[in-house]
Amino acid sequence: MRRLTVDKVEPGMVLGKSIYTDNYDILMNRGTPLTIDYITRLKARGHTTVYVTDAETADIIITNPLSDKIRAMTTKDIQKMYRTTQLNLAKAENDTSSALIKSINSPKFKKSFQQNPVLTHLCENANRFLEDIMNQNVLSGLNATKSFDNYTYEHSVDATVISVLIAKRLSFGQDKLKQLVTGEFLHDIGQLCIDEKIANKPGKLAPEEYEKIKLHTVYGYEILKDVDKIEGVAAHISFQHHERQDGMGYPRGLRGSNKIDMGSLTGELRFTTSDKLVILAEIAAIADFYDACISDRPYRTGLSPDLVYELVKTGGGWQFNNELVDCFLSVVPKYPVGYGIKVKCGEYKDFIGVVATLNTSKLSAPKILLLNDNQKNKIKPIEVDLYSYRGLIDIECIN
Ligand SMILES: [Fe+2]
Ligand SMILES: [Fe+2]
Repeated sequence: MRRLTVDKVEPGMVLGKSIYTDNYDILMNRGTPLTIDYITRLKARGHTTVYVTDAETADIIITNPLSDKIRAMTTKDIQKMYRTTQLNLAKAENDTSSALIKSINSPKFKKSFQQNPVLTHLCENANRFLEDIMNQNVLSGLNATKSFDNYTYEHSVDATVISVLIAKRLSFGQDKLKQLVTGEFLHDIGQLCIDEKIANKPGKLAPEEYEKIKLHTVYGYEILKDVDKIEGVAAHISFQHHERQDGMGYPRGLRGSNKIDMGSLTGELRFTTSDKLVILAEIAAIADFYDACISDRPYRTGLSPDLVYELVKTGGGWQFNNELVDCFLSVVPKYPVGYGIKVKCGEYKDFIGVVATLNTSKLSAPKILLLNDNQKNKIKPIEVDLYSYRGLIDIECIN
């Protein structure tokens, strides 16, 4: 299987991962041979990339961290939470932030949120989500292919998956993992309070619009705090996931210590008071950034995973908790399985291929399968193991 941009998909290729409708029913099952009509429909729905299987890549296996069933169930619940919360939110077009916070904290809204059966279901699902992911130690391939309409929900699930993989490296107990999962599922729910014209604006935001977007963290916290099913520390994931170690993040400019306080992980999680960075939010900050950057949006295609990997790496110390960045680099591969690559130097310079398997002892040096030569001609596939290759070779991800 491999990931291809929709414009490179040819009729006859077989769909590698199922595609869902906006309501998370199956639209096209994995295994479906793609026709011109199907490819046109995928484009119309805003998919820019899909996973396909063809003869050359039939042996490449992308291990999904989540089963299709749990993924679809969780994404659907998150979508329902957003929709029902939006309905209950008494929001007027020109509401000030204080008016919005007041209506979030009204007994009527809090009660409807607290008693929402979807919230109960979502919190129960957190256990099944964790069970599903427990056998995974690294992210093999990429996140879900997102369509324009379901970005927020898919992003919430994908960011949670990455966060759990990081947290597992730190030997978090089950209760801490559950707090991480429930908080991260809804980390962007405060976006509901942002004017849609600003939230969905393609292109660059004006400074005053950006100031409004930043408030989704505050609204999210106000929505999630004091809710029985969501622990206080989980509400802080929403509040703090855009804070930075150097104090230049938002909404409050909190500073981090760049250290993981391991001693406290056995007891109460470090810093559950409101003015210190919570380790769960520091983890979420990395996962959120990575997934948001690599995802396609209506106004841009996703950045290459190898580039974003480097951005996270160099963000350690000022943007992200340095010690957590080390954990991230040990669970997320620089070159995800199934992604297209181009050789940058050496005897195979300008050959094109795909990432075939990861080397668990060195995630940044996978096995690759070269499929085209430097003139773009198809060749008999050549497998190169970057871990044991003795010559000069360097690769980059391509779309
Ligand atoms: Fe956010
Ligand atoms: Fe986010």
